[in-house]
Order: sequence, then structure tokens, then C-alpha cells
Amino acid sequence: MHVPVVIIGSGPSGLLLSHLLHIRGIASVILERKNRQHVEGRIRAGVLEMGTVGLMRKIGVDQRMNAEGILHGGIYISVDGKRHHINMKALTGGQTVMIYGQTELTKDLIAARLAHGGDIVFEAEDVSLQGIESDKPSVRYVKDGAEHQLSCDYIAACDGYHGVGRRTMPENRLKTFERVYPFGWLGVLAKAKPVADELIYASHARGFALCSMRSETVVRHYVQVPSEDKIEDWSDDRFWNELRTRLGPDDASLVNEGEVFEKSIAPLRSFVAEPMSHGRLFLAGDAAHIVPPTGAKGLNLAASDVHYLSEALIAKFCENDERGLAQYSQKAIARVWKAERFSWWMTSMLHRFGDEDSFDGRVRRAELDYVLSSDAGKTTLAENYVGLPF
Ligand code: APR
Ligand code: PHB
Repeated sequence: MHVPVVIIGSGPSGLLLSHLLHIRGIASVILERKNRQHVEGRIRAGVLEMGTVGLMRKIGVDQRMNAEGILHGGIYISVDGKRHHINMKALTGGQTVMIYGQTELTKDLIAARLAHGGDIVFEAEDVSLQGIESDKPSVRYVKDGAEHQLSCDYIAACDGYHGVGRRTMPENRLKTFERVYPFGWLGVLAKAKPVADELIYASHARGFALCSMRSETVVRHYVQVPSEDKIEDWSDDRFWNELRTRLGPDDASLVNEGEVFEKSIAPLRSFVAEPMSHGRLFLAGDAAHIVPPTGAKGLNLAASDVHYLSEALIAKFCENDERGLAQYSQKAIARVWKAERFSWWMTSMLHRFGDEDSFDGRVRRAELDYVLSSDAGKTTLAENYVGLPF
């Protein structure tokens, strides 16, 4: 069987790409290692830049997002218990972000793709790529014990950090950059009312905390924890107490406790692989880069990659113009590094690294104090938070 584009991975990158190609009449098959329930159950971040919202609207998968998404025009930064407001809307000429869980967005994208007759092969095992340097690439996989082969024109590896796509690129062509942070985020989902009308990013002597939300009745909160911590170390009580402490007495009294229905610890890392293409293979989203979650750029970066890649594939299939494909990596990576910079900067300013009593620690604190005291500083933060254009 021949298909113009084989997409590996049905996370947000792969699903969005498949939709963007479909609305221009270009067929694709998505090969996904996990089952649908697993993909739809993964808990991820929940802040959409307007560029991402725009892509959802463009493909017409926006009904539930429009109805349930919450627009936010600012964030709070709390330092040692004192809250400061960053009025992003005023600082960026009216821009906002939308609170809508990636989990919900993924469910919407899968349902719509299947409703339009889209081909998503769940539980596709042993996916392997052949001939990426030739003009006849192909992808093999096993489904229900039977081996299949798809020949194609292009392969999009939207298969996340642990995927097979990046590993198929010749090692000597790939340069990787990495920073691992000495802490993780313990995150909980709970049935409770949000602490405030907007997100609170808190920097405190005991570490970072974040109060986020999914709706008026569900909150998503995080606290910075040492990398070695296990989920068993964190009872619900310990979590709520720690969150309150890091918010300081004023905001602590606003924390509504509720039933915790999900709790997990995620490590923080920055990672970039260059280039994002080789021959007929193109990487998008977490397959090519990871950001720490401070600033919620992961999903939004996947969306901008896929925007560039879909435009390039459309130009090739509709106008036989290959320039976009040749320039994809360069174009995508320029925006990737800006989001990497912002996520690293937010992470450094707001977390405790254990070296506060050193030159680096003092400079990080001065940076935070400066940003919060200067319109230029706040504008820089706001402009990046709402998302750079693509
Ligand atoms: N074969 C088939 N599918 C695979 C393989 C493989 N060898 N390896 C991984 N996958 C699938 C995963 O099961 C997953 O469903 O690829 C998908 C990758 O999805 P994500 O990890 O969600 O990555 P991406 O779509 O790029 O989404 C961007 O933004 O907020 C961040 O990390 C967060 O998921 C988020 C990401
Ligand atoms: C979330 O709601 O999960 C979230 C929000 C903002 C972040 C990270 C995660 O920076």
C-alpha cells in the first residue's frame, strides 16, 4: 500500500499534522504504539497559545475548545509569599492564552480524525523506517501479530522523545543539546476550585510551586521536588501543606483542598536535536525537542513545528515546490531555540537550585527582582508567554 505521508505517533503533533494535510486533500496514516485509551488518558499541560488555538480553528476541531476553554490575559508571579501581576494582555497589545487541557485537545483531535475517516493504527508495534535517504521510503510495523509495510513519499516522526524517528537518523548527522535540572515537578489533579482567577507561579525559599487549573471545578497544582523523590513520599496532606507554605500566608488561605484524582512526578529537562530533517524524514514536536514545563511551551512548540511542516508538505504536493521542505528544519529550529531559551529562563528564575548562596544564585534572584520591577522586563516575559509568532 502507498500513502503520501506516514506519520509516526498520535500525540498532538501527529494528530494536528494529519488534520492539516487532510483539509488540503493529502492523505496520511498515523502509526501509534499505544492504544487509544492510553493516548487519551495521558495528563499533560494545559495552556494554549493563540497560534495553537488558531490551528485547531483552521482544521475545524474547535467546538468543545471554544465552549470549555478559558481565556487568560495574565499570570501571577508570587515571590516569597507576595503576589505580582503580569498583565499580558496590556503588555502585548491585547494577546491572551487559553486554558484547555492537552488531554482534552488530544481526545478532540482523535475523535475528529476518525469521524473524517482518518486512518490511525493504534497498537502498531516494532515500527521501523526504511530508505529515508532514497525517494522511496517505507515504514514497517506489526499489528495483531501480522507484519505490514507502507510505502510513502515522506515520513513525519511525531513520536516523542523516546520515538524511533530520531534514532533512525544517522548519528553523525545529528547534534543534540541537553540540560537536566536537579529537580522534578510533583503534579496533582484535584476536584477543587482554582486558587485565583489566573495561574500563580510561585518562587519560595522551599522551592517553586504552580497553581493551575483545568476548569472552574478542577485544579492542576505542582510543587518542585528533588529528583530522587518518589510518589509514595508525598501523601495528599503533605502536598497541600507544602503548596500552602510556598504560596505564603495570604494565598495559602485561598487554597481549596479537594479529592486528588491524579498524582505524578515528572523530571525537568531541556533537549534539542538538530537538524529536524534528513532525506525524506521530518521530526516534529517532542521527537526533536523537550522543554521544562515552566511556561507551558511543549505543546505549543509542537504546534508551530507542525504548522511549518504542513505548509511545506502542502507546497510540495499541491505545487510541486520543495523549497519549504528544504527549509523546514532551519525555520522550525529558530523558533524552537527561542522557546528553549524562555523555558530555561523561567525555570532558572523561579526554582531553587540549592546554590542560592553563590554568585549564580544571587544573579538569578536579581533577574527575578528586575523583571518584576520593570515594564521592559514584564513585557519580555509576557511576549514570550503568549507565544512568539509563527
Ligand atoms: N511507534 C509508534 N508510536 C510511537 C513510538 C513508536 N516507536 N514511539 C512513541 N510513539 C508515540 C507515543 O506513544 C505517543 O503517543 O508517539 C506519540 C508521541 O506523542 P507526544 O509524546 O505527546 O509528543 P508530541 O505529539 O510531539 O506532543 C508534544 O508537548 O506538552 C508537551 O510533552 C508534551 O506531549 C506533549 C508534547
Ligand atoms: C498545567 O496546567 O498543567 C500547566 C500550566 C502552566 C505551566 C505548566 C503546566 O507552565
